[in-house]
Amino acid sequence: MKIAPSILSCDFAVMGSETRRMEDAGADYIHLDVMDGHFVPNLTFGAPVIKAIRPYSSLPFDVHLMIDNPYDYIDDFADAGADIITFHVESRSDIGKTIEKIKSHGIKPGLVIKPQTPASAVFPYLKDIFMALVMTVEPGFGGQSFMEDMLPKLKEIRDEAERQGASVLLELDGGINEATISMAAAAGGDVCVSGTGVFKAPDAKQAIERLKALCEKERG
Ligand code: DX5
Ligand code: ZN
Repeated sequence: MKIAPSILSCDFAVMGSETRRMEDAGADYIHLDVMDGHFVPNLTFGAPVIKAIRPYSSLPFDVHLMIDNPYDYIDDFADAGADIITFHVESRSDIGKTIEKIKSHGIKPGLVIKPQTPASAVFPYLKDIFMALVMTVEPGFGGQSFMEDMLPKLKEIRDEAERQGASVLLELDGGINEATISMAAAAGGDVCVSGTGVFKAPDAKQAIERLKALCEKERG
């Protein structure tokens, strides 16, 4: 299991060193939650902030866009140094065109579904995307409770991808910590985002090691 700490739970006064701290702690990706106050009822940060922290880590930057019009901002996030850009199927942008625009920058595209959106919403795009992200909370805020009933979506997406001969990474986001990650592993997740579970732990390295150990134990 790959662990992607969400920078949303970091100390915003020192985002650069918080990013480096996650790399030192053994993180696989840095997950960056971009919110516009329209698509979700919260505002976070945009491309200039991501660009500013880019030099602090060589880990892949996994940028999760919770914004109404992702297509209009792909160039900015590419310039900021994103490696993976995931955007919501529920956004207003044309999905196919947005995937193509992300790919035109050499960046890996991903699609995200909110809890009320069925897994089938990503099926038409499985051959074109690197990652499918299943939200396990309502997007907008860190520190919410894990929605276990989202887990069957992982198998649905995996089965359909196999049927199509597509290979996609499955990411889960929201409420993942030591109490819930075993369920994510059992359900077939490849990447788990964890905000509060890692950033607020007394020792981030130990927290990531424990999360990975729980997954290994689950998968045997
Ligand atoms: C929610 C964000 C998540 C969130 C994860 O809208 O996409 O990445 O910050 O935080 P925790 O792990 O605290 O639920
Ligand atoms: Zn996220």
